[in-house]
Amino acid sequence: MDNQGKKYDLIAEGFAKMRDSFYKEQKYLDKLIKLIPSQSSVLDVGCGSGYPIASYLIEKGFEVTGIDGSQKLLDIAKEKCPKMKGVLGDVRSVTLAEKFDAVIEWWCLFHIPKQEHEMMIHRFSEWLKPNGILEFTSGDAAYEAASSEMLDQELHFYSLDPSEYEKYLKHHNFKIILKESDQPEHLVWIAQKLN
Ligand SMILES: C[S@@+](CC[C@H](N)C(=O)[O-])C[C@H]1O[C@@H](n2cnc3c(N)ncnc32)[C@H](O)[C@@H]1O
Repeated sequence: MDNQGKKYDLIAEGFAKMRDSFYKEQKYLDKLIKLIPSQSSVLDVGCGSGYPIASYLIEKGFEVTGIDGSQKLLDIAKEKCPKMKGVLGDVRSVTLAEKFDAVIEWWCLFHIPKQEHEMMIHRFSEWLKPNGILEFTSGDAAYEAASSEMLDQELHFYSLDPSEYEKYLKHHNFKIILKESDQPEHLVWIAQKLN
């Protein structure tokens, strides 16, 4: 499967306008903030335009690096969220020299084919410092779908069954701190890398 970030180049302006404020995320960002040292470093995986997630963390004093596959969304981020360090790349293969106190992924994993979700959990672990915190989102059941509902661009969506995330988190040495449904068919996970 291609890097779906590139599809966001085709809808970047519309997407950035649509996604400029919180839906239900703020509560979960606040939970993350309580678990990491102040002014520490956060990696935002699939950061989009930097809104609403990276911008909020930066406002709270964190250093944020965002990876995204859409150059156009990163260009918008450069304007709207200039303190975020943007990295263009496919989240499945990009290499980063730095390790982070926290990794946040919000609505990017669902664009990655499900056979690669275990690899992504492994990558999240590799990007974290010892005892670092991971926050990510998934479906509440396994699914695989294509939809053009968002701005008429066909996108693919995937989730594993939650029991598989539990298995892979354990396997990659994470302790689950929170697994909660914030909206229908959607889960938010927070886990700590044990070392
Ligand atoms: C639904 S948006 C979510 C953006 C942001 N996290 C938010 O909460 O608004 C999905 C983002 O993931 C990026 N993306 C999807 N697949 C990707 C991949 N394989 N590598 C890098 N970025 C990817 C897209 O470019 C897009 O910015």
